[in-house]
Amino acid sequence: MWKFHRWFERHSLILVVGILVVVSIGGLVQITPLFFIESTIEEVEGVRPYTPLELAGREVYIREGCYVCHSQMVRPLRDEVERYGHYSLAAESMYDHPFQWGSKRTGPDLARVGGRYSDEWHRAHLENPRSVVPESVMPPYAFLARADVNTALMGNHLRANRFLRVPYSDEQVASAAIDARAQAEPLNAHAYDFEQRYPGAAVRDFDGNPQRVTEMDALIAYLQMLGAGIDFDTYQAEAPENTR
Ligand code: HEC
Repeated sequence: MWKFHRWFERHSLILVVGILVVVSIGGLVQITPLFFIESTIEEVEGVRPYTPLELAGREVYIREGCYVCHSQMVRPLRDEVERYGHYSLAAESMYDHPFQWGSKRTGPDLARVGGRYSDEWHRAHLENPRSVVPESVMPPYAFLARADVNTALMGNHLRANRFLRVPYSDEQVASAAIDARAQAEPLNAHAYDFEQRYPGAAVRDFDGNPQRVTEMDALIAYLQMLGAGIDFDTYQAEAPENTR
């Protein structure tokens, strides 16, 4: 047995390989169960998958690099909780692929911005931030109001998210393009079906232009649902199972 040990200590390469084998066994034992335990994330009422329009808005958010200046994670620190509201829960990011937590805050955190301002405020702010916040250094995004949302690939977008275990049904995937329009057009013939498929999602003309469904519609729909799903007046964190 000791001879074996000497063999390891005399050959640095064999020692390195031995260390790698031992460390990866430890890693596998710790990490693998996390991929199979459903309870890694506590389920919280009010957290739902994004609607197709919100998902499109999220794409605009990522494409335009909003995350370069904005985080979406309220940390459990007193100053953050007093400014933004309840600290972020893991469940709030469970349908985010990729998540938008971020760490750079040139502008404020946006995890709880949903419902804080009206659609009109967001529209004015995105078209020209200085029109509502004179000292703002945020760039204008007026062109979003002139760009129609691309609904052609929306079904694929939902399908890709379903592959990552977001629970979209076959019906939701099949009607993704129709649903994206219906959410921004309250008088759309499919608005009722949309509400059945996505209970609790807001249906309205977000960008104030009823003729078109634009990227502005999509982005505002997305911003308005951020952090707005959970009722924090009644929310109670689950007691940890193994309290010491
Ligand atoms: C160059 C940095 C920068 C970029 C990029 C940027 N913002 Fe901002 N944002 C700011 C700053 C600074 C503020 C605070 C002043 C203001 O309200 O305009 C702000 C404020 C906001 C607010 C108001 C938040 C609140 O709680 O008052 C929203 C909403 C917002 N930004 C959304 C966006 C979106 C959506 C994008 C991408 C399309 C974006 N921002 C891109 C810097 C940025």
